[in-house]
Amino acid sequence: MSEIEMIAIVIDGRSIQVKKDSTILQAALDNNIFIPALCNSELVEPYAACRLCIVEVDDGRKTKLVTSCNYPVRKPITVLTSSDKVLRNRTITLEMMLSRWPNVQVIKDLAKYVRIEKPRYEHPAVDLNPNACILCGLCMRICEQGIWENIINFTNRGAVRAVRMPYDSDQPHCIGCGACAEICPTGAIIMVDDPNQPHDADMVRRAGMRITEEMIKFDEEQCDMRGVGTAHLVEIMDAYDLLPVMNYQYGKHEDTSKISSDVLRTFFTKGKPDGCWLGCAMACAKAIENFELTTGPYKGEKVLVDGPEYETLGGSSNMGIFDPRFVIEYNFYCDTYGLDTISFSTGLSFVMECYEAGILDKEKTGGLEIPFGAKDAALELLHQIGRGEGFGLIAGKGIRYMKKYFVDNFGADPDFVFDIGMEAKGMEYSEYVTKESLAQQGGYGIALKGAQHDEAWLIFMDMVNKQIPTFEDKAEALHYFPMWRTWFGLCGLCKLPWNDVEPADNAETDEPAKVPGHVQGYCEVFEGVTGKPQTMDSLIRMSEKVYNFQRVFNLKMGFGKREHDVIPYRSAGPVTPREYESRQERYDAQLSEEARIDPSGMSTEEKVAATRKYRESQYEQLLDAVYKRRGWTNDGVPTIEKLQDLGVDFPDVIELVKKHGG
Ligand code: SF4
Ligand code: SF4
Ligand code: FES
Repeated sequence: MSEIEMIAIVIDGRSIQVKKDSTILQAALDNNIFIPALCNSELVEPYAACRLCIVEVDDGRKTKLVTSCNYPVRKPITVLTSSDKVLRNRTITLEMMLSRWPNVQVIKDLAKYVRIEKPRYEHPAVDLNPNACILCGLCMRICEQGIWENIINFTNRGAVRAVRMPYDSDQPHCIGCGACAEICPTGAIIMVDDPNQPHDADMVRRAGMRITEEMIKFDEEQCDMRGVGTAHLVEIMDAYDLLPVMNYQYGKHEDTSKISSDVLRTFFTKGKPDGCWLGCAMACAKAIENFELTTGPYKGEKVLVDGPEYETLGGSSNMGIFDPRFVIEYNFYCDTYGLDTISFSTGLSFVMECYEAGILDKEKTGGLEIPFGAKDAALELLHQIGRGEGFGLIAGKGIRYMKKYFVDNFGADPDFVFDIGMEAKGMEYSEYVTKESLAQQGGYGIALKGAQHDEAWLIFMDMVNKQIPTFEDKAEALHYFPMWRTWFGLCGLCKLPWNDVEPADNAETDEPAKVPGHVQGYCEVFEGVTGKPQTMDSLIRMSEKVYNFQRVFNLKMGFGKREHDVIPYRSAGPVTPREYESRQERYDAQLSEEARIDPSGMSTEEKVAATRKYRESQYEQLLDAVYKRRGWTNDGVPTIEKLQDLGVDFPDVIELVKKHGG
């Protein structure tokens, strides 16, 4: 990492150390030295419009007046913030401002600070509005630089210069973030469009603006959601051995760099907020324009592709395909056929492994040779699924259907296909390797709707940061996070702004994984909309009621018990000797240190069996702990006491759970 160069400067007789290239104004602010400034904000580039921040600089050769907000410190200098020259200049500027906008509070305050009681001039374009626009340009700069829009700008010149939307009309591209109104120092911009009539729109906006500020300040160094969206996860998952490769057998691959975010960045053409959520400046959705398709009904046409996101890229590595053009094409056709890229790619990964294991062959697939990496065959099968033809009629029905079909019709070993068919409750796994995170195995297996990580993503807390070592810790996480994430669904909110950008001080909080600063923000959003104050606990309780009710509903539909929280073994450990050997050191160490089994002298097959026994028992113990924490029976059924406590003890609910031992 390159060293930060510091430069010694003197401001008003005080010696201070300043990072090279910071502005004088920033250096002064950081050291509690006040310099009047009206058009400056750390959220936007300096513009030097108001000229109030003027200071006198002595660089050792000459002295000069400069605007401190855009003067970078590159060598030792001496700065005077209130020399006679500075004060004379600043006073004239403020007198002119006060004469034009005599009732604007920030101008009145600064005039008072420099002891102006009454300006000596009368301005021909005096504006008596206390919320007059003072032409600082902050609003249009935050719209362009912070939000990546360009909705408002200056129009006209001289006395009639003003900030306007084009043609003075509503702009459909304005995402309603309110950043322009928030940054305006005079209150000249008022947000008027409150379609849902919230109880306190300002409270909602303030909470939103805090996240917008973090996006502007930290996104590039944190997740770069605005640059590449969730594609940044590809290289992170590969580095931690978590990227699914060849139907989750492995967690990394030497060709991952070919589908990394840096490669995708060269394809992405859209750099604007997507407007999927009113007011959100995250702009995480990416798009590729003019992409020429090579297959299917639109072959040869140039199309716009919405994506790809991480899951689509991870799905590709899962099929053993490391070609960005393939990813973009299968992304497009999944969208076009109304298919989910996760279900398609996880399903195809299963097909490919079955092909390699000899369960499938060309005859059974209708002529398709489809081992891992077969991108042409993968696209052909995608089109067959889209058309409802050939082997696509089987593959399109998902892994649960294929497992049974392959056993019944192709003589597949049921144990083997159950082990490698990555679905739970009929839903295909999303694109993370969970073998080394027991908590995440539960995150997928216990999730009410199936193997989707949107209930809980605990891999880093568990495997990387080791924050939840005991069964009780994991159970607590598998209580809090599913309830918390359920809350987003209940309120119709997107989860990404919760933890894909974090407050600067998040790491210093007691529970950084919960991002408490943002949870507080959501309490304010809820109160702002409904008028009902909330706490972190009350939000969780809201979800707990619904979550338990959903579990009862699963029960009513014939699911919702321990036997339904089962997971395919590949989710928990290595199915084959080859998989074991790919992480032999780790598995051997676990056998001896945790399972207390000496692996020396054991064959790989024996070690696979011993690891399986150990890991399956760990998963069962995890279920015990989670059910207990959730107030469920050991069979995973909500107890009557729990339902009473939550106030969802309706007669038919009680009758149903009683039947199942609740
Ligand atoms: S609300 Fe947001 S997008 Fe709209 S003009 Fe203001 S800053 Fe720009
Ligand atoms: S509307 Fe507000 S932020 Fe925009 S230029 Fe005028 S005073 Fe500055
Ligand atoms: S703050 Fe420097 S010119 Fe306005």
